[in-house]
Amino acid sequence: MADPRDILVTSALPYASGPLHLGHLVEYTQTDIWVRFQRMRGHRCIYVCASDAHGTPTMMRADEAGVAPETLVAEVAGGHRKDFERFRISVDNYQTTHSAENLELTREMYRRLKENGHIDRRVITQAYDDERRMFLPDRYVRGECPSCGAADQYGDSCEVCGATYAPMDLKNPVSVVSGTTPSLRESEHFFFRLSAFEEELRAWVPEHVDAAMVRKLEEWFRAGLKDWDISRDKPYFGFEIPGETGKYFYVWFDAPIGYMASFLQLCRQSAAAGSETLDFDDYWAANAKTELYHFIGKDIVYFHTLFWPSVLSGAGYRKPSGVFVHGFLTVDGKKMSKRRGTFIMASTYAKHLDPDYLRYYFAAKLSKSADDIDLNLDDFIARLNSDLVGKVVNIASRCAGFIHRHNGGLLGETLHDEELYRSFADAAQQIEADYEQRDYSRALKRIIALADRANRYIDGEKPWILAKDPQQSQRVVDVCTQGINLFRSLMVYLKPVVPGLAERAEEFLNGAPLAWSDAGTPLLDHRLRRFRSLLERVPPKEVQAMVDESRTGPDTPKPTYKDEIDIEQFARVDMRIARVIEAGYVEGADRLLKLRLDLGGDEREVFAGIRSAYRPEDLVERLVVVVANLKPRKMRFGTSQGMILASGPGGSDIFLLSPDSGAKPGMKVT
Ligand code: MSP
Ligand code: ZN
Repeated sequence: MADPRDILVTSALPYASGPLHLGHLVEYTQTDIWVRFQRMRGHRCIYVCASDAHGTPTMMRADEAGVAPETLVAEVAGGHRKDFERFRISVDNYQTTHSAENLELTREMYRRLKENGHIDRRVITQAYDDERRMFLPDRYVRGECPSCGAADQYGDSCEVCGATYAPMDLKNPVSVVSGTTPSLRESEHFFFRLSAFEEELRAWVPEHVDAAMVRKLEEWFRAGLKDWDISRDKPYFGFEIPGETGKYFYVWFDAPIGYMASFLQLCRQSAAAGSETLDFDDYWAANAKTELYHFIGKDIVYFHTLFWPSVLSGAGYRKPSGVFVHGFLTVDGKKMSKRRGTFIMASTYAKHLDPDYLRYYFAAKLSKSADDIDLNLDDFIARLNSDLVGKVVNIASRCAGFIHRHNGGLLGETLHDEELYRSFADAAQQIEADYEQRDYSRALKRIIALADRANRYIDGEKPWILAKDPQQSQRVVDVCTQGINLFRSLMVYLKPVVPGLAERAEEFLNGAPLAWSDAGTPLLDHRLRRFRSLLERVPPKEVQAMVDESRTGPDTPKPTYKDEIDIEQFARVDMRIARVIEAGYVEGADRLLKLRLDLGGDEREVFAGIRSAYRPEDLVERLVVVVANLKPRKMRFGTSQGMILASGPGGSDIFLLSPDSGAKPGMKVT
């Protein structure tokens, strides 16, 4: 193997304003697989992350909950940490950006940028909420789109026509916080002079970002790089800008510095513990020889490929070795939705299902492309059962029993098919390349193809038939020793993806933790532990329970209603029970039925728009509720002397009063 590398890896910091969901886990799984792979290869690979504490949403949410933002952050970050453990995301350090280390480094970053002439002061005009006495971020102003007139749009862009604009360009702008009309107010802000880095970035981007992203970045370069506002006025939850009053660093300024801060804390902890020494400068100084990679989602590319490298460079630090971008998660082909129960929290998933299932499924869908990836729940069950349980784990369960029965759990002394074993070992090179390039789906395809070959081998040898003949006992042991060794190689290759399963397999194999090189050195004349089921089939009931538990309320905005009426107005509606005496079609009206009603001593003719749901003959003798004091209405086909009440979404789902309700014509309905 080549010389060990020194690699520092980060995932984007989840906002401390809410818990992790399955979308986040695409990223943390993707990162963790890569990190585990590098470590298995013998490289030093440090992985740090943190919760992103600052900003207006955290401040507002804490306010609503009646707690200090620090309290909210500590609580939410605790949940994030727990989710990382549940999903075995193997970070070496996890903190929040509201830390002493981050404060120290953010100040230092700002000091260096200022000293190097990269910070400008400018007065800008912004939307201001006079009632709450705060400047309003674009997303906190809503109103009608200035371009297409669509109602209730955000202050930065229109979701209907795609236009972008300033918040105060909206027609009838409203502050989301107080409901009042914002005013305009001036304030001095601090700008990072991004435009000065254009040339440097144009050279850096193509070598450090995937080709598909480079095209996107081309568009941004063409649009021109604008200087970046890194300050916010109070009230704001963040770090105060030194030497100013009431000015804070914008959350996106200190958030990526949080990568450095989490690493700095790790350096200090390792120094204090006297364990392996980690030197901050080895990883961040301008001349650092180590590698630095950021895993991020496609929504935050601008921050990581333009702002962040420029800030680092402007302050005299090194730039990243690579920025790896993934797409967004959809569930069953659609955006995650609370109403459909597909906005699934990490903790909800973990309550019902083994995290390894999800890690495997995501890995099977992940490549280096930034296309969105879909979690199809039926496909999820089928894929796991067929590949991981049915093909990989199955090899061990087919062979283990025979080794125990025929050889007291001891593996044979030789391989039965050297060549087959060798071809499994030789696959390592390609699988390595796939993992290195984050093409996990390709790695898994290769691994499953090998599993197919192992199963074919066992099918061909038929140990269950050999086992019936006492003369063939040695052959049974040989074949199953071969089978277990093929299984072991597959587990080596799968270990970065499914650490839980790998651990149980290691326990069964009764040796040291699997290392990458173990795929080339067979386990012979070695005693196995008793075989217990390594992985169950995915329980479909639990998948359903998870979805049911995730279904919370409507995703859609609150409906709007007609003008309010008071109880007196409502009481003026006289509703009575009526019996249908006759019912028939109305010529020329494809939605109407004509009904003759008995209200108990009074007969009426009423037209009702229920033809899509009922045949006339089915309505005769049926009871309905009728508004008896509605002024007769002249319609095209005659006069309607009342209105019958029905409920339901329409079409063939219109419900009338149930026939066996026990009501009598003429009865008042209350
Ligand atoms: N706090 C910022 C990142 C600061 S990094 C210096 C942020 N937080 S986030 O919680 O919104 O997202 C964290 C990461 O999760 C981002 O990389 C984001 O792209 C990713 N994802 C969030 N929702 C996602 C999906 N539905 N699907 C895939 N990834 C998603 O952005
Ligand atoms: Zn519009």
